Amino acid sequence: MCGIVGYVGPREATPILVDGLRRLEYRGYDSAGIAVLGADGLVRVTRSEGKLGNLTARIEAEPPSGRTGIGHTRWATHGRPSEENAHPHRDASGRVVVIHNGIIENFLPLKRELLARGVPFTSETDSEVIAQAIGAACADAPEAPFGEVVRTVLSRMTGMYAVVVLSADEPGVLYVAKNGPPIVLGLGADENLVASDATALLSHTRDLVFLEDGDFVRLTAASVAVTALDGAPRSRPARRVPWDAVAAEKGGYPHFMAKEIAEQPTVVVETVGHKLSLETGHFSEDAMGVSPKLLADVDRVVVVACGTSWHAGLVGKFLLEEVARVPVEVDYSAEFRYRKNLVGPRTLVVGISQSGETADTVAALTDAKRAGAPTVGVVNVPGSAIARLVDGVLATHAGPEIGVASTKAFTTQLVALALLAYYAREARGLGRLEPGDPFLEGLAHLPVALQQALALEPAIEKLSRALAHARDVLYLGRGAHYPVALEGALKLKEISYIHAEGYPAGEMKHGPIALIDGELPVVALAPRDALYDKVASNLREVKAREGRLVALVSPGDEDVSTFADETLVVPEIHPALQPVVSVVPLQLLAYHVARRRGCDVDQPRNLAKSVTVE
Ligand code: AGP
Repeated sequence: MCGIVGYVGPREATPILVDGLRRLEYRGYDSAGIAVLGADGLVRVTRSEGKLGNLTARIEAEPPSGRTGIGHTRWATHGRPSEENAHPHRDASGRVVVIHNGIIENFLPLKRELLARGVPFTSETDSEVIAQAIGAACADAPEAPFGEVVRTVLSRMTGMYAVVVLSADEPGVLYVAKNGPPIVLGLGADENLVASDATALLSHTRDLVFLEDGDFVRLTAASVAVTALDGAPRSRPARRVPWDAVAAEKGGYPHFMAKEIAEQPTVVVETVGHKLSLETGHFSEDAMGVSPKLLADVDRVVVVACGTSWHAGLVGKFLLEEVARVPVEVDYSAEFRYRKNLVGPRTLVVGISQSGETADTVAALTDAKRAGAPTVGVVNVPGSAIARLVDGVLATHAGPEIGVASTKAFTTQLVALALLAYYAREARGLGRLEPGDPFLEGLAHLPVALQQALALEPAIEKLSRALAHARDVLYLGRGAHYPVALEGALKLKEISYIHAEGYPAGEMKHGPIALIDGELPVVALAPRDALYDKVASNLREVKAREGRLVALVSPGDEDVSTFADETLVVPEIHPALQPVVSVVPLQLLAYHVARRRGCDVDQPRNLAKSVTVE
């Protein structure tokens, strides 16, 4: 995942930036770069594809000298990993440089505007538009204070960003803005720093300022001026953090699980960016892990997976059948390997695994290969056993997932499978994604929708009080939201040790309805979709038996929310992506219930992150 570091002060910036980037390496990246403002008034940018060693070799050959600088590690989203796409990005004059984490949702119209006035773009990234737009605005208003220009340009950007801007015309100053991805300032003696993660700052200072969304900062060696984007002053007192190295990696969150839930808007973008251009609708065949020809020729798909990954497979079945009209079976790996599995060359076997090391899934894929079936792994850990075993890898780019309860790996699996469904649709001659397709627009909007879902946290925290004492909880959903209900139940079970079950809402009347009384909380997914009316009737059956109903509904819901005891309004998005957004409140609910019960959220009893035994 992308990392940011910046320095302003009396020391040479380059070694500080490189050290900061090294400390951010664990997040994963595919290119890196720094920009340093020299005493001659020129900004020197050094960038390189690949590991930091490539960058440092270039820096050693020609060390840039200067006391203000910014550095970045990039994990490709818009555009492939390459030197041109690496940050920092410059404007056409080369005097404005920018590093950016996140996604600029409206970069295309802004880029078109700038291209029309002859601004030459040099990368495929959305981030370059920030530098170019600032440069163009400076050219239009040469007398305007630089900070004002940055502020005005940023207020035209929609989407998510943590941005640091440096101008050759304002030495000793960095501008920092946040809307979504984390960014933290480090306050030193006669120097100040900025980074996307406190880990990069702790060797210099423990006095940190955690910025909030909408903050805009003018940072010099001696001052920190925080305002809102509209210029209104904001107060952000520094906090002295007592962290050790491991705690620091949590980036200020109390648990890895909380951090990983919060990272979802960013990691879904990274998962998409490697595989599909939102601009053109073209898939990268290499990144999809399977050829269109194979997808056109197969008679069916069999998914093998365990736990949360198995739930992702169930959503994938729904999408592949609906969008690409290919029959899909989803099996538990541990069952598949001990059955007559009847797969062969015309069955694509898809193994889903966050760790890539789960013994049952490794064994299931090995059996499938032995039977002559082509195999694909939806895997988060590059180089893992499954990544090495399968014929092709459809990688999720969730970054390291430390919390035992899987969260961001699940949502990236859902995104990867949605992409596979549209890729298979094209391969099977059922239609291709044209620019502007609602699915592409849904993908572009996904990070914002996830951010809105995360904003439900205070309401969910409140709700967790009532659920913390429950003995059992029933989760209901239909269609693609049935597996989301299963996942919600698994999360609660795993980390709070409350018994929970997920059920298809329409199946409830065939048994579980016997459990319903005033003591049993029922958490129901009722988004506005083709099955909404059916779900609403099922939920009336719950209320008729005095069940305590918590309903997740779409904005403007007029039915279920009138009789549910508690309602959470979940942002609406393209139907193929709705499960990605709908699961977030359930992750947060499990997290807060577990915290309230004093459970070890990151390392629940009896569970391992990677189950390498049968
Ligand atoms: C998820 O919260 C669980 N810890 C577990 O069910 C997990 O999804 C399962 O063990 C499969 O792991 P994998 O994705 O690494 O193969």
